[in-house]
Amino acid sequence: MFVITAERPGDAAAIDILLDRAFGPDRHGKIAYRYRRGVKPVAGLSLVAHDAADASAAGLVGSIRYWPVVVGGEAPALLLGPLAVEPARRGESIGHGLIRRSMAMAAAAGHRAALLVGEISYYGQFGFDPAPPRGLDMPGEAPHRLLVAALAADGLAGLHGRIGPAPEAHPAADIPCCTARLPA
Ligand SMILES: CC(C)(COP(=O)(O)OP(=O)(O)OC[C@H]1O[C@@H](n2cnc3c(N)ncnc32)[C@H](O)[C@@H]1OP(=O)(O)O)[C@@H](O)C(=O)NCCC(=O)NCCS
Repeated sequence: MFVITAERPGDAAAIDILLDRAFGPDRHGKIAYRYRRGVKPVAGLSLVAHDAADASAAGLVGSIRYWPVVVGGEAPALLLGPLAVEPARRGESIGHGLIRRSMAMAAAAGHRAALLVGEISYYGQFGFDPAPPRGLDMPGEAPHRLLVAALAADGLAGLHGRIGPAPEAHPAADIPCCTARLPA
């Protein structure tokens, strides 16, 4: 059993260890990390999963964060990731719970679209589709791994072009709805 909560400052060290184990210590060299350098994750969308019997950082079993990006030089979007689950706890729907919960929160906060670099075989169930056929491009990344999902009814309308790092925090990041409570 696990519990999903908002990430707390005391979780950061345990998340770094989890991410190093999931992606390797050279993970900062990945293309997606170019979009995270010097930019804070989107406020209110960083969630963690803990073992139901251990709410401390030592019981952390999963993490998800989102970063702000800009598409086509002007349209704000979210970059989902990294997402990681403790190897011994995979297959318990922790990843499913972290994605579903955070995407619902992102939609409630007014975000319109989420991008990620990952497998369609996993992320397709959450509404992600290949992004290149929609005219989206992340330089240096394998096109078949670039995925996009709408968070609003017309969230993908007009969303095309090259994905770039956000020059500053996404405006919707300051909407306080999601830090206050988590939707069920
Ligand atoms: C991907 C990950 C977050 C999934 O977490 P999880 O809590 O095990 O996921 P869930 O329990 O929600 O789903 C498990 C199912 O997804 C499948 N799955 C996991 N990773 C997958 C992948 N890359 N492609 C396709 N299916 C995948 C599992 O085989 C399992 O299938 P089953 O239910 O038919 O047995 C976890 O495997 C992980 O941390 N992997 C290493 C880091 C990583 O790859 N992160 C994603 C970056 S794109």
